[in-house]
Amino acid sequence: MKNSIETLQQEIETYVIENTDQLETFRLRFLVRKGSIAGLFDRMKDADPSERPLYGQLLNRLKKTAEQKYDAEKKKLEALSSPQKKKRIDLTLPGRKDHPGSEHPVQKVLGDMKQIFRAMGFSIATGPELEHDSYNFDMLNFPANHPARDMQDTFFITREEGQDDLLLRTHTSPVQIRVMLEEKPPIRVICPGKVYRNEAISARSYCVFHQLEGLYIDKHVSFADLKATIYSFAKQMFGSDVQLRFRPSFFPFTEPSAEVDVTCYLCGGKGCKVCKHSGWLEILGCGMVHPNVLRNCSIDPEEFSGFAFGMGVDRTALLRYKIDDIRLLFENDVRMLEQFSQ
Ligand code: DAH
Repeated sequence: MKNSIETLQQEIETYVIENTDQLETFRLRFLVRKGSIAGLFDRMKDADPSERPLYGQLLNRLKKTAEQKYDAEKKKLEALSSPQKKKRIDLTLPGRKDHPGSEHPVQKVLGDMKQIFRAMGFSIATGPELEHDSYNFDMLNFPANHPARDMQDTFFITREEGQDDLLLRTHTSPVQIRVMLEEKPPIRVICPGKVYRNEAISARSYCVFHQLEGLYIDKHVSFADLKATIYSFAKQMFGSDVQLRFRPSFFPFTEPSAEVDVTCYLCGGKGCKVCKHSGWLEILGCGMVHPNVLRNCSIDPEEFSGFAFGMGVDRTALLRYKIDDIRLLFENDVRMLEQFSQ
């Protein structure tokens, strides 16, 4: 008898009631005069008189549980079906708009750059943004304590005398080193990615930006190959009518080095605010890979030569999409990003 009461108690407690039919079944099963609880009350008279008080107590608890559950579930179902609670569909409301994602302007420009170089046979290489000092500087032929290191205000992560410190890479050139250490020439890669510099933040410069590096190493690679590659790229990227000029420059990892300008593609070279009335816009730095850099990567400069170039991506995005503040590229404000969805 005690077992039957306990089994029923458990059954009532776990009984699932989700609609009015189930509620009615519950009532018929447990609460009516011929229901299972009433049946157990009937069996009381056959029980040992000494045990009756205990059974009585248990049965009363059982009955109370069933009644309370019935009342509570009934209330819940009534609340759900009351007219003001019922979910109504208002067919006159305007439809919900989809908000498709959009490609970030920097990724659009990078995408175009990658496509042009891919068509020329360059493959894509990547490297970490957290870089060793040795890859970012030493192996690229920056002498120790050389002021050239200060050209790029570095975010150091570790700084210990005599250690190969960790830093946020200041340019994509260390990826050149990583590729040359891993692969044998011929090498033809571009390395797109983020770089970091500890600069005063303004509308024109930010502590993080994007670069695209290029590297070509093979036998007999000449400055003429470099020029032809840059010409072809610039005309596809900025317009077939742009003109280029190569200005001698200095980078520790290239010799000779040059900076390349294109005629301002906003004013056609006539002079405007953007090109500071010079008619020219600087697009990249480049040069022939320094023999020391090749040697640092166990490539024999007597046998192989190569060129490298590095360009900023963000400024092109700013100019192309007429964005006047570089910070907008990094704030992830959807109001800005939405303007680039198709
Ligand atoms: N790493 C240089 C910078 O961040 C850009 C650069 C110049 C890369 C000349 C090159 C190069 O590969 O040949 O300013």
